[in-house]
Amino acid sequence: MLFNFVTALTLFAESIQAASVLRFGCSSITVERLDPLVNPGVNPSPHVHQVVGGNAFAAAIPSTDVSQLANCTTCSFSEDLSNYWTANMYFKARNGTYKRIPQIANRGNEGEVGGMTVYYTSAYDKSKVTAFKPGFRMLAGDPTMRTKAGITKWNGICFRCYTAKNFGGDNGAPCSDSKVDSVDLPKKACPGGIRTTIRFPTCWNGKDLDSPDHTTHVSYPSTGTFENSGACPSTHPVKLPQLMFEVIWDTSAFNDKALWPADGSQPFVFSQGDATGYGQHGDYVFGWKGDVLQKAMDASCFGATCAPLKTQAFTEANKCAIQNSVNEPVDGWLTSLPGMTSPLGRK
Ligand SMILES: *[C@@H]1O[C@H](CO)[C@@H](O)[C@H](O)[C@H]1NC(C)=O
Ligand SMILES: *[C@@H]1O[C@H](CO)[C@@H](O)[C@H](O)[C@H]1NC(C)=O
Repeated sequence: MLFNFVTALTLFAESIQAASVLRFGCSSITVERLDPLVNPGVNPSPHVHQVVGGNAFAAAIPSTDVSQLANCTTCSFSEDLSNYWTANMYFKARNGTYKRIPQIANRGNEGEVGGMTVYYTSAYDKSKVTAFKPGFRMLAGDPTMRTKAGITKWNGICFRCYTAKNFGGDNGAPCSDSKVDSVDLPKKACPGGIRTTIRFPTCWNGKDLDSPDHTTHVSYPSTGTFENSGACPSTHPVKLPQLMFEVIWDTSAFNDKALWPADGSQPFVFSQGDATGYGQHGDYVFGWKGDVLQKAMDASCFGATCAPLKTQAFTEANKCAIQNSVNEPVDGWLTSLPGMTSPLGRK
């Protein structure tokens, strides 16, 4: 299994020649209602997030150089003090109570606890990418979305339904295989769990580190996708590395159809009250030290090692911690999703 995975990754890296594909695991640093990007300083923020990365994470993170604010990270690249987060997936029982879905480590990331896999990919066409600058932050997706929306145009956000344990049915690029991929939550039970893929915009206006909606300073390509080297629009001419998240939700304890809604609909819901899955979203606060991310993008690396970068074992990464600052349960059987006003979750 690991051999097949490494082989596939090697072939992938070779196919894009002198490019870099960093792919690494980050353990959970917190699960709570905080959102320093969209709701800075608000405690608690509207919905629960699962967060990985550096220990500068808090209700508000100063928009200075985050690598100077944090001193440890749950990621296996130890100079990556960035923070990455998404909404959480919950199971909704027939009696109306909710239970948080655990996250499991991806292939090759054994030792990671909770958390997710982060990718940074340089251009597929050998053009130069410009690494993010200190203070940079952005958002992908829209938590309020409940219909199939534009982001699917760039293969930006999707789910993969694992057809068997140990990543069964996991073939081909994310969001490309209609047998196992969908942009809404899978309608059938997925024996090996459900994977979230979130690809961020890859074009930058070259001046703003953030924007009021956290999205307009960046853009997806004007035509095509990052994967097929689609051009950046003239308004956002600077090509960025492609940031991508993978989160593996272990839904296997909730696959008994007798536990599912009597009408046969699927029982999973995101922490912002979204049972469609169209509202899945990811948040990013850049925090790599110095210019090491640029060096890694200019190198020819793949996977979780890269000559210009320092790594740490998960035994070390897992020691990095912060104190929870929102005093409410996010686990156990909950009568409502934390922060959601109605017990059924907001529509
Ligand atoms: C690391 O940061 C934490 C939290 O900001 C702080 O309490 C701790 O003293 C720092 N440790 C070192 C070795 O700088
Ligand atoms: C609600 O349903 C879940 C799953 O079937 C069960 O574990 C839990 O005990 C139930 N809670 C109540 C209050 O009945």
